[in-house]
Amino acid sequence: MPTAVWRSLPLLGNERLDAQHRALQGEVQRLAEDIHSKRSAEHLEASLALISQRTIEHFHTEEDLMKAHGDPGRILHADLHRELILQVRRIQYAAAKGEPLRDAVPEFLGDWFQEHVQKVDLEHGAYLRES
Ligand SMILES: [Fe+2]
Ligand SMILES: [Fe+2]
Repeated sequence: MPTAVWRSLPLLGNERLDAQHRALQGEVQRLAEDIHSKRSAEHLEASLALISQRTIEHFHTEEDLMKAHGDPGRILHADLHRELILQVRRIQYAAAKGEPLRDAVPEFLGDWFQEHVQKVDLEHGAYLRES
């Protein structure tokens, strides 16, 4: 079982964003468990599609807040979000062509979220204090 997925994410102090982070982490954990219990490729692809959709929704929430608060780092931050979405799309494309979803996928996602929340979301504090 990937360890990175199980570490708790740092809190930002913004209820909405923290709840979204928690929900995403839960989805990634479920995907890791489902891969471990050898669920069908169809089931795993549906879980990944849900993670992808929720991630996009979360990124929109963050980007709207950054815009509303005039966060100067918002363009670079949004670029990092887009890069992740492209990577997830590549994984989905490979899965659709028959490449099985392995442990490496939730491991990658867990590590990405851990590092991103810690190093990027937390660093840009101004937009987090939603009024
Ligand atoms: Fe985030
Ligand atoms: Fe972010």
